[in-house]
Amino acid sequence: MNHIRHVAIIMDGNGRWGIKHKKSRNLGHREGLKIVEQVIKTTIKNKIKFLTLYAFSTENWKRPKKEINFLFNLLENFLLNKITDLNKQNIKLKIIGKKNFSRKINNLLSVSEKKTMKNKRLQINLALNYGSKSELINAFKLIQKNKVKINEKNISKYLFTNNTPDPDLLIRTGNTKRLSNFLLWQIAYSEIFFEKKLWPDFKENDYNKILEKFKKIKRNYGNI
Ligand code: IPE
Ligand code: IPE
Ligand code: MG
Repeated sequence: MNHIRHVAIIMDGNGRWGIKHKKSRNLGHREGLKIVEQVIKTTIKNKIKFLTLYAFSTENWKRPKKEINFLFNLLENFLLNKITDLNKQNIKLKIIGKKNFSRKINNLLSVSEKKTMKNKRLQINLALNYGSKSELINAFKLIQKNKVKINEKNISKYLFTNNTPDPDLLIRTGNTKRLSNFLLWQIAYSEIFFEKKLWPDFKENDYNKILEKFKKIKRNYGNI
């Protein structure tokens, strides 16, 4: 049985769910947030130590302003209402991606990270304004600046995910088979699960089924 240390998720399909059920993409995002809370609970139940969630990509800035504002309002309210509770549950929040949002959001993110930085039960890496290519470029620049050797260890060290083991599995909901610029370096040997359901329909049982399937996979890493 494979042990699971790190699950990464591309939470896709909110917009389509919203249009289908409520005629509004944004209501799909609101529904999607409930699933995030459920997934955090299930991750803890399964004693998994790292959860990386793709919430907003460097490409998502192309979306209409109204949708972007709605998403960041959701994030703001979520952190304001829940960070104390996350902290009590011994959860550490880390933002991966460049924090170039409004001053208010940047501050809230930094305060939330600082408040939870010593927590040990689960680390949530929240990918915001995250793009794997820009993360890699940033890492190479730091390597150059610090005049250190280019090797696997150092590249991993200068990524936003430093100190996080590579994901054992990556899940993408929403019936699309692509990576959309997510963790390209880190998932070199991850098991990938493409889930047909839209994110707001992804229930505890669907998540547990994937975790059980993962545990039984024979992982070769090039060996036989
Ligand atoms: C993923 O859902 C959430 C974000 C990118 C913020 P989408 O908003 O991409 O939903 P679909 O893919 O359009 O249905
Ligand atoms: C990926 O979903 C990003 C997030 C889930 C945050 P997208 O919906 O943005 O991906 P594409 O554009 O369809 O590839
Ligand atoms: Mg999408």
